[in-house]
Amino acid sequence: MKHFINLKDIPSKDLRKIIVDAKKRKKQRKKLNTLEPDKGSPLKGKMLVQMFEKASSRTRISFYLAIKQLGGGTLTLRSNELHLGQGGETIADTAKILSTYGDGFMLRTDDDKKIEDFQKHINIPIINGLSPSSHPTQVLSDVFTVEEIKKKPISKLKICWIGDSNNVLDSLIAASVKFSFKLSIGCPKKFAPGKKVKDWVSKNKKKIFIYHDPKKAALDADVIFSDKVISLNDKVDKKRKKQQFQKFKIKKEIFKYAKKNCIFLHCLPRGDEVEESVFLAKNSHVWQQALNRVHVQKSILLYCFGKLR
Ligand code: CP
Ligand code: NVA
Repeated sequence: MKHFINLKDIPSKDLRKIIVDAKKRKKQRKKLNTLEPDKGSPLKGKMLVQMFEKASSRTRISFYLAIKQLGGGTLTLRSNELHLGQGGETIADTAKILSTYGDGFMLRTDDDKKIEDFQKHINIPIINGLSPSSHPTQVLSDVFTVEEIKKKPISKLKICWIGDSNNVLDSLIAASVKFSFKLSIGCPKKFAPGKKVKDWVSKNKKKIFIYHDPKKAALDADVIFSDKVISLNDKVDKKRKKQQFQKFKIKKEIFKYAKKNCIFLHCLPRGDEVEESVFLAKNSHVWQQALNRVHVQKSILLYCFGKLR
């Protein structure tokens, strides 16, 4: 049984296999309607339970479409509707019940330990739909989007992140190691990636480049990524944090330092970390990026269900 919890723990060759499958499937279903299944309905009869402890638009809808297009179905739950969320049932018992009724479990949570605890007790694959330390389905899909637009392996590109050191960046750092691409990060000193992440990169004999000046981070970049400065349930002084990031707001001028055909990506939802003119510019591919979640998550589901060919 294969879980999809953190890119760090998944072999590079499996991540590449998922991307190759997603590319093939996306191409093959060009003429199909949204809910029509892929040829052969490879997950016919399978049910994915999705549980959200935090808000979600894209992850929820794209997983619904992903499993439907593979011939299966999904049930979406809010944790506060369950005995677990009300404090009346343990993770162990909930995990047993989920394993009895469902075939796969996707969890969005504020607590990485909860994913670990579910993993101990569950007999079906778990997919991390965003946790404090990781947003793996988003970032694998972003690697797919970059290669789709640039028509090159990501290892040949310079990727830049300007923004907070959050779950999406942690997964992007893991991806930079797994796919061997150059990653430069622009962030205020106080919000730089932590020691644990940096040590993991060094242990894997790779490097990330951290700058406290957005222009330096953007230099010669093929892709500039950003994300909200204030993440979901971020327990900080929001006004103060936004002020600390003022110099890092993505404006048109930053693209002067990047490569001529540099693209902009953002996982959404957006805040005021990026100017509207950048977000809606021709070189911004945020809508294509959001749509690709469906295609890549289909191949992630196949991987977890042991059906990736
Ligand atoms: N990018 C992303 O995960 O969006 P949602 O929070 O809407 O799922
Ligand atoms: N870093 C953001 C990503 C949202 C998809 C958050 O955790 O809220």
